[in-house]
Amino acid sequence: MSFALLRASVRRTALRAAAPRVAPKAAPRAAFRKFSTPPPTPEAAKSNTGLIVGVVAAVVAGGGYYYFSSSGEVSNAVKGGVQSIKAATKFTPSQQDYQKVYNKIAELLDEAGDYDDGSYGPVILRLAWHASGTYDVESNTGGSNYATMRFEPESLHGANAGLDVARGLMEKIKVQFPWISYGDLWTLGGVAAVQEMAGPKIPWRPGRIDGVADQATPDGRLPDATQGAAHLRAQLIIGCSFNDQEIVALSGAHALGRCHANRSGFEGPWTFSPTTLTNDYFKLLFTESWVWKKWSGPKQLEDKKTKSLMMLPTDYVVISDKSFKKFAKAYADDNDLFFKDFSAVVAKLFELGVPTQQFVASEPWIMKTLDEQK
Ligand code: HEM
Repeated sequence: MSFALLRASVRRTALRAAAPRVAPKAAPRAAFRKFSTPPPTPEAAKSNTGLIVGVVAAVVAGGGYYYFSSSGEVSNAVKGGVQSIKAATKFTPSQQDYQKVYNKIAELLDEAGDYDDGSYGPVILRLAWHASGTYDVESNTGGSNYATMRFEPESLHGANAGLDVARGLMEKIKVQFPWISYGDLWTLGGVAAVQEMAGPKIPWRPGRIDGVADQATPDGRLPDATQGAAHLRAQLIIGCSFNDQEIVALSGAHALGRCHANRSGFEGPWTFSPTTLTNDYFKLLFTESWVWKKWSGPKQLEDKKTKSLMMLPTDYVVISDKSFKKFAKAYADDNDLFFKDFSAVVAKLFELGVPTQQFVASEPWIMKTLDEQK
């Protein structure tokens, strides 16, 4: 069996075996979890058709931001969203313009009031991750390029429950900066969330373009929190070409935010500081005793001492799998190392599915935090 076939069959097996990510029986979204649409064929994905359709839609919807060559083909307008904007509007957003967008997002994060733990950062980071983590190496579809979570049924996938909150917030920014594509906006939101919650700098550059509903990804591409190491590897190594070390570093994002019973079915925060990025997620995994929570919800762990923290089955895998554990221990012992690896892997995550030629800069940019601009 060829390597490609092997990868495909492992991933399919894992997907078949996968229990739904949103587990509780009573969850109102249960019906959506069964929804599945086939991904576009690799041929379709490789052809320009999807891109052309996407660009046409963007022209219609966005006031003609994109341009075409005389042959009618997108002149690999893959010259990127930004160059196209320039052609149509004589406006070329500079890094400074994107910094203004970043700043508005950063201000918005703090307008959360009583919402959760007082910041919209975690849910906005989750939006950026779910928009990007749908990438599938084999078919070269999904990822952050087309921002297809704007469309049903992707917006209704069980894994995306609650992300309407984040999309609604991002819409407030979009009306102020209508020239930015949704993919750029959402990933820049993820960058701002990490950086403003005391995390490392996430190198980022613009160039994603808005797609159409036909490019929406099928259900089942994001990891299912009820599963184990084999599933995580199938989704993130075979699906997105991350390695064990990168999977562990990515999992450290769960230092932030919390689970919501009315979204995923799970409940509670992972750490005592859910709006500040630290390596506490890893430290707590090693220092606390984790026991199965006795409740009617999906299987999750709680810390024996305070019963106020939680871990998903996929979080616990980070210390129960021998290979993952090695990296988790290194991150628990060294916050700088965690930040360095987290920065690199999140930058890679946010660029999944975006053809390199689309990016407007050959090297990613480092956006300034609000504090650095005072
Ligand atoms: C490794 C596989 C992963 C699984 C199975 C997983 C699963 C989950 C689940 C079930 C929730 C709870 C959603 C809710 O009830 O509101 C959640 C929340 C969250 N996830 Fe993950 N996740 C994974 C990876 C990631 C990655 C890679 C990131 C970011 C880089 C991330 C960032 C977050 C954040 C920030 C929240 C909190 C959202 C909030 O507070 O509203 N997760 N995740």
